Amino acid sequence: MLSAISNRRAVRKYQSKPVSENDIQALIEAFQASPCAMKQTDDLRGIVVTNEEFRQRIEHSTNNSCYGAPLLFILTTKKESKFGERDSSVAAENIMLQATALGLGSVYIMGGALVLNDDSDLLAELGVKDGYEVSVIVPVGYAANKTTGEDRSHRYHLSRK
Ligand SMILES: Cc1cc2nc3c(=O)[nH]c(=O)nc-3n(C[C@H](O)[C@H](O)[C@H](O)COP(=O)(O)O)c2cc1C
Repeated sequence: MLSAISNRRAVRKYQSKPVSENDIQALIEAFQASPCAMKQTDDLRGIVVTNEEFRQRIEHSTNNSCYGAPLLFILTTKKESKFGERDSSVAAENIMLQATALGLGSVYIMGGALVLNDDSDLLAELGVKDGYEVSVIVPVGYAANKTTGEDRSHRYHLSRK
């Protein structure tokens, strides 16, 4: 298995140390390389947040759902899109795997994404376009603790025929 896949673990506590610009660019490339359904490239839009004031307002609005991470990828999708949740999920995984490969932690956040959708003022200030909603947030940063995890080798039921 690729080491980024096996090493990726949900990280829920971050150091305040910022992510370097080089690493942010590598994460953006990973986002842009994500699978896209039916060439509907406008169904998914991303916002990269490093601005401290925005970061804190997002934490406040979402009850600290982003766990203090210094970098947030906010993935928004067209409300009526058939593909939005899927496009945003595969993009989130690309970002998380690239983060792992860079020695960074990350986590897929759905709960905070749903809550953020109730804060229309903040969404407008973040530049979320009318007709779009937040689907996933991916906080990224240096993990505060060494991440050890459960055995995932049998997480899901899988049959073979
Ligand atoms: C659809 C989806 C929604 C999730 N939403 C949240 C969330 O809102 N908050 C959170 O802390 N983790 C969230 N997670 C992360 C899972 O809790 C995490 O993947 C799970 O605990 C397994 O751990 P692992 O990622 O280290 O294998 C979500 C994951 C998925 C796939």
